[in-house]
Amino acid sequence: MGYGKGTARRGVLLGVAAAGLLVAGVCGCYGPPPLTPEQAEGQHLYAGRCAHCHVENDLGLKPAPPNIQAVLTKPLLPSGAKASDQAVRDLVLKGKGKMPSFSGRFTEKQMAALLAYLHTSMQ
Ligand code: HEC
Repeated sequence: MGYGKGTARRGVLLGVAAAGLLVAGVCGCYGPPPLTPEQAEGQHLYAGRCAHCHVENDLGLKPAPPNIQAVLTKPLLPSGAKASDQAVRDLVLKGKGKMPSFSGRFTEKQMAALLAYLHTSMQ
């Protein structure tokens, strides 16, 4: 009796594992690739420090802060300047117009994570 139950449970577990693999496989085909741990950290920082202005414009700035989604996958920044890690790093550290300076707010590791996230499609 006990033996029979154990076998059934193993069968269910195998089924769940197989279904999980199937779902992961389908997502791999149709969705954007999953974020690396570094990109995920950048996503977290972006959500906490940047999105309230750049996505929600919670301060009601006029003109609204530009859309910077996937900004480092494009050749140019919204201002027309050349997009590069260095350019965005400088901008974040110095600020620009109504964008505040984040000098001293990010560690090197956090800055690298933020830039890594801005290289993704940010979906
Ligand atoms: C208080 C609102 C605010 C916050 C917070 C903010 N920004 Fe901005 N950001 C702006 C505004 C306004 C501009 C447009 C500046 C201009 O061109 O005068 C801008 C411009 C930019 C640009 C485009 C620069 C260019 O040359 O086109 C990038 C990239 C950018 N921000 C990244 C970020 C990142 C990354 C963060 C988070 C660390 C962030 N911003 C946080 C308001 C904000």
